Amino acid sequence: MSKFTALDCQRCPRGDNRGLVSSTESTHTEGIMRDSRILARFISFCLLLILTVGCTATAATPTGSSVNSIYSYKSPSSDGIGKVYYGREIANVMGYQGANWLARPSRLSEERSDMAVDALMLERDDVVADIGAGLGYISFQLAKWVDQGQVIAVDVQPEMLALLEAERDQYGVKNIETVLSTEADPNLPAESIDMAVMFDAYHEFAYPKEVMTGIAKALRPKGQVVLAEYRAENPLVLIKRHHKMTQRQVKKEMKAVGLRWIKTDDRLPQQHLMFFEKTAEALR
Ligand SMILES: C[S@@+](CC[C@H](N)C(=O)[O-])C[C@H]1O[C@@H](n2cnc3c(N)ncnc32)[C@H](O)[C@@H]1O
Repeated sequence: MSKFTALDCQRCPRGDNRGLVSSTESTHTEGIMRDSRILARFISFCLLLILTVGCTATAATPTGSSVNSIYSYKSPSSDGIGKVYYGREIANVMGYQGANWLARPSRLSEERSDMAVDALMLERDDVVADIGAGLGYISFQLAKWVDQGQVIAVDVQPEMLALLEAERDQYGVKNIETVLSTEADPNLPAESIDMAVMFDAYHEFAYPKEVMTGIAKALRPKGQVVLAEYRAENPLVLIKRHHKMTQRQVKKEMKAVGLRWIKTDDRLPQQHLMFFEKTAEALR
């Protein structure tokens, strides 16, 4: 007489039914056991599948997670994009629709960009990249200094570059070349420039680490990077919060790409003019 139904056997802990089964029931029991083994194998297979898929998913994450680990995200401020790099929320990009502001007549006296370009100590045959050139307010001043060299005006907005090119061609300026970059790549050949300058631009790069790495690669050995950023330490500098930077923050972010701080020139009324040089670390 059977004491166990198939259901009962499945409920039993393994081996509990051994010895309780009569010889006439053994075939049935063996069938059940075989079914149990098949079920166990099926469950093992499913577990293996889950683990494999899980591992594959984990293996696919490193690229994403290593990139994501540089940046974090928050709800955007009125002048920011909600993306945070070394504790700083990246500013939104100034659209070409506002290009007139870059050429406002009061700008020279407000910023003294003439003194800034003077402070760069450029050689006449230098190749200097103006990253985030906009409509070329700084590029044209640089072009006068490197009259035997070249200015590479780089920007992500083709409309800005078109404005620059129109003025360049109108005045017959021969030593400015434009380069359309991407948010994450300045599109400059390796070891092709003596200096990269960023006037009021770096704080709005959506991929600062990638762009600065590209710039560092484009610098010749001992090449320099110069940033002009509105002073965030000074509340009297009436520029939106995320469009200003502290010296401490700039140094931290340049160090992250192997650029060594050399000096800060304090001659400008509202901006830090900060000089960095390429180190062996940045060469890698
Ligand atoms: C505030 S404007 C300054 C323009 C110019 N440097 C000047 O002082 O007149 C900032 C410029 O940076 C450009 N820009 C923003 N993100 C960039 C990036 N990732 N790479 C290159 N240019 C970028 C913008 O398109 C804009 O033209």
